[in-house]
Amino acid sequence: MKVAIIGTGYVGLVSGACLADLGHEVVCIDTDAEKISKLENGVMPIYEPGLEELVKRNYQAGRLKFTTSFSVGVPGAEVISIAVGTPSAPDGSVDMSYVDAAARMIGEHLSGYAVIADKSTVPVGTSERVAELMRQVTDTDFDVVSNPEFLREGHAVFDFLKPARIVIGTGSERAADVMRRLYAHIDCPKIVMDERSAELTKYASNAFLATKISFINEVAHLCEAVGADVDAVATGMGSDPRIGKEFLKAGPGWGGSCFPKDVKAFLKLGEEKGHPMPVVNAALAMNKLARSRVVSRLETELGDLRGKKIGIFGVAFKGNTDDTRESPAIDIIRHCVERGADVTVYDPEARVVLSSHGFDVPHAASIFEAAEGALAIVIATEWEEFRTLDLERLKQSMAGNLIMDARNLLDQAAAEGCGFRYLRIGRG
Ligand SMILES: NC(=O)c1ccc[n+]([C@@H]2O[C@H](COP(=O)([O-])OP(=O)(O)OC[C@H]3O[C@@H](n4cnc5c(N)ncnc54)[C@H](O)[C@@H]3O)[C@@H](O)[C@H]2O)c1
Repeated sequence: MKVAIIGTGYVGLVSGACLADLGHEVVCIDTDAEKISKLENGVMPIYEPGLEELVKRNYQAGRLKFTTSFSVGVPGAEVISIAVGTPSAPDGSVDMSYVDAAARMIGEHLSGYAVIADKSTVPVGTSERVAELMRQVTDTDFDVVSNPEFLREGHAVFDFLKPARIVIGTGSERAADVMRRLYAHIDCPKIVMDERSAELTKYASNAFLATKISFINEVAHLCEAVGADVDAVATGMGSDPRIGKEFLKAGPGWGGSCFPKDVKAFLKLGEEKGHPMPVVNAALAMNKLARSRVVSRLETELGDLRGKKIGIFGVAFKGNTDDTRESPAIDIIRHCVERGADVTVYDPEARVVLSSHGFDVPHAASIFEAAEGALAIVIATEWEEFRTLDLERLKQSMAGNLIMDARNLLDQAAAEGCGFRYLRIGRG
């Protein structure tokens, strides 16, 4: 099938590369000319395991193309996926300007019946909104389908090709058939429902997962107070299939490009409809507490942080990605910097970017350089490299002996055996 993807970011690029690998002819369109030129020259704009090989293989085979021009990709495409950003507006609602612009441009270039599949995470009612915007500029027949994406950064290729389910929101049997053909080679349940339910499914899923993490973080803090171990509690809880093992890992809170903005949008929707949402509001409050608490514990151990050297391991919001959007690590770094600490950071892929985060810190080239002369180190992101840390060498690099392991990666006995004072989340 001929497919056009509008927006070549995490979702668009992964979707495009995977659909091409499944045999479709895919054109990825983006307004960012630099990104498109990089991709045409084999340079990946993002880090995602397995993506580079997939992009190169399908680009060389001619099944995957990149362009800034809607007139190259849209005419003749059977499916046109919208995968542009839907960031939070200052009031917590969704900034729909990218989706609106994409809808108008698709309408202007449509040449025959196509299914417009919305993969961006969007408020309820967006399918109608996109259809209305398109109808203002085209008489061509089309259907708009809500096709929310559930991939996780860091596992995006795997998640796209082996999803738990594919949600197809449409009242049109013709459009549902096109979507079933698009995903024919992906073996999972294809759940067809109305557009509004599909749009809400995405927000409800992310709000539930964020709440689950906030819940275990609340349990973790209680564990510290009563002398229990949150990892044991989570194993005991998660073994009950009604609860499930996933998303019960205590840490410094949830972040990334999706959970924070989707939770805010979900709450905004409730507010607009006059529907109070106390559970999800509490999950958001708990998330702020989980981040600040990491730094409060450092202060309890070290006293005033002014002038004290702290090495922070991790900048990305989780391992296997270079994405720092709403990263708990960034908040931990910010809290330390605001308290006057002398911070050096290390991350294998991600950087603190002054223009996005409003502050700057030195980046070390290695773990040991970041730890050089530090009184404490904080593990803020779950990179494998941190789990397999050479503790003896770390100890020799540092001036102090405190490890605040906000990701519970290290073995407590091994760390204490090397002479560290070792703090983790949720263990008294
Ligand atoms: N990142 C994730 O893990 C993830 C997972 C599931 C769903 N989502 C949702 O998918 C959507 C995209 O997220 P992302 O992380 O891929 O965003 P992103 O910022 O990485 O990529 C968006 C891309 O769209 C391009 N763009 C913007 N306006 C455009 C236009 N009018 N025409 C063509 N291109 C345009 C931008 O230049 C950018 O390259 C969002 O709604 C997000 O909530 C993201």
